[in-house]
Amino acid sequence: MKFFVDTANIDDIRDLASTGLLDGVTTNPSLVAKSGKQFIPLIEEICSVVSGPVSAEVAATDYETMMKEGRKLAKIAKNIAVKVPLTPAGLKVCKNLSDDGTIVNVTLCFSPAQAILAAKAGAAFISPFVGRLDDIAQDGMQLIADIVQIYENYPQWDTEVLVASVRHPMHIVDSAKMGAHVVTCPPDVIKKLYSHPLTDKGLTAFVEDWKKTGQSIL
Ligand code: E4P
Repeated sequence: MKFFVDTANIDDIRDLASTGLLDGVTTNPSLVAKSGKQFIPLIEEICSVVSGPVSAEVAATDYETMMKEGRKLAKIAKNIAVKVPLTPAGLKVCKNLSDDGTIVNVTLCFSPAQAILAAKAGAAFISPFVGRLDDIAQDGMQLIADIVQIYENYPQWDTEVLVASVRHPMHIVDSAKMGAHVVTCPPDVIKKLYSHPLTDKGLTAFVEDWKKTGQSIL
């Protein structure tokens, strides 16, 4: 399973990249607005830190402008994944950019039917938003199970399931059980994966007992 971080905060990205566990980055217009930075230089900087796919989302919603924006974003670096919305125009952009060899991430997916369309349009990634479905009392993880099952029936589709709108560690664990290819998580959720009270308790005891031996390894 690949780990992407869902943020436009360059300090968090650098911090997580230093762990060696980070496979990519996703951004969206809301995260860019929150960063307060200029979009293009920010994406350039992220691409200089992370070699895996970096999702940069188009801002327009009409086909012609999205195509122009997508082509411009794709030129920033080889690892840019142009992010387009799951609309008829967005999928048309997806098909054309994918045919030209650009990595495309189709975002705002909320149904298996939409995920089928994205795969047929040649998306490299489909981003189903689990947390936003949970928020309206629908089962976000069931959507992941459905998409994984459907995609397994069609090995000729190269689209990876990129679980998005992740809110807590169990979204990640359940995604892994289901065989989703990628999760994109806010930095605080990735950090929560490390935590277990028995790890802290056990380490405290080992440190104390080692002191009692009076020895040093170095
Ligand atoms: C995915 O690429 C999106 O940026 C993101 O996961 C949306 O998550 P949210 O529902 O927490 O805004």
